[in-house]
Amino acid sequence: MAQSVSTGIVLSGTRPTGELHLGHLNGALKNWVRLQDEFKCFFFVADWHALTTEYADPGGIEESARSMVLDWLAVGLDPGKSVIFRQSDVPEHAELYLMFSMIIPVPWLERVPSYKEQQEQLSGRDLSTVGFLGYPLLQAADILIYLADRVPVGEDQLPHVELTREVARRFNRLYGDLFPEPAGLVVEMARVPGTDGRKMSKSYGNAVSLSEDPKSVHDKLARMVTDTRRQRLTDPGDPADCPAFCLHAIYCSEEERAELSEGCKTASIGCLDCKKVMIAHVLEELEPIRQRRAELEKTPEIVGEVLAEGRDRAREVAGSTMARVRELMGL
Ligand code: TRP
Ligand code: SF4
Repeated sequence: MAQSVSTGIVLSGTRPTGELHLGHLNGALKNWVRLQDEFKCFFFVADWHALTTEYADPGGIEESARSMVLDWLAVGLDPGKSVIFRQSDVPEHAELYLMFSMIIPVPWLERVPSYKEQQEQLSGRDLSTVGFLGYPLLQAADILIYLADRVPVGEDQLPHVELTREVARRFNRLYGDLFPEPAGLVVEMARVPGTDGRKMSKSYGNAVSLSEDPKSVHDKLARMVTDTRRQRLTDPGDPADCPAFCLHAIYCSEEERAELSEGCKTASIGCLDCKKVMIAHVLEELEPIRQRRAELEKTPEIVGEVLAEGRDRAREVAGSTMARVRELMGL
C-alpha cells in the first residue's frame, strides 16, 4: 500500500472537564510544550466532545474551557508557537464530520472499545445518541482537517487514532489522496496515580490540581496511599507496590530514589519522610506554574484573545482542507 506523506503536523485536544491536574501535566502537557519547538502544533479545547456526554447539563463547559486555557498558558503552551483554539469556533470540523458520516459504516463506530465501556461506566445517562456514537468520527475530523499526522495522546485514545487512519484510508480510496494516516504518539510515564492509588481524575476526587495552593498540595500528597504493608514504622515495604512512589519515579533523582527505596525495604525511613523528598520537587515545579496562572488571571481578557487568534489561524487551514474535500466529493 502506498505510504502516506509525512506532514509533520501535530494535533491534540482535551475535553474541558475542569481544572487540570498532575496527571494532565505529566501525561500530556509537558510533552506538548516540548513538541511546540519541533513541529507545527494545533491544540484545542474539545467542547463539542464534552457535549456528547454532558448534553443534559452543559453549564460547566464554558468555564472549564476558560480555566483549561489558563492552565495551558501557565504551563507554557505558547500562542506564538502553536495554534490554540476551541473546537466550536471552527465549524469546518462539523462539516468534515458530516462528510465522513456519509462513508463510514456504523459498525466501525460500534466496535470502538470506548463506546460500550463509557456507556457502562456512565450508566446514569442516555448515551444511545448519534452524537455519542459519532464521538470518534468527530475526533477523526478534528485530526484530519489539519492534515495532522501525529497525535500525542494517552494509551486509551489509540483506538480513536486507529479509526482515524481507517477513515483517512477510506476517503483517500474513494476520492483521491488527501489525508495522511496519522499515528498516536504515546509518551512513557503517562500514568500518574491519584492520592487514593486509582488513576488521577477529578471525578474520583483524588487529583492534585495545577493551581492548587502549596499547602493543599503538600497535605494531599502527605496523605497519599502507600504500600499497605507499612502499617507501622517497623514494617518494611516495597516501593514497587507504593502508589506514591510513582511520583518519586517522575520527580526524584536516581540517587534519591535508590536511597529512599532502601529505606523503605529496610523500614529505616517513615513514609512521610520518604514522601517529603518527592513533595519538595512537586512544589518546586508547580510554584512557577501557579504564579504564572495568578498573573494571567489579572488580565482575564487574554483567554478570549488567544482563542480568537487561534480560531482565525485554525479556520484558515480547516477552510482550505474543506474546499479540497468538497471538490473531491463533487460538490
Ligand atoms: N477524545 C480525546 C480525549 O478524551 C479528546 C479529543 C478530541 C482529541 N478530539 C481529539 C484528542 C483529537 C486528540 C486528537 O482526551
Ligand atoms: Fe512508599 Fe516511601 Fe512509604 Fe515505601 S517508604 S511505602 S516508597 S512512601
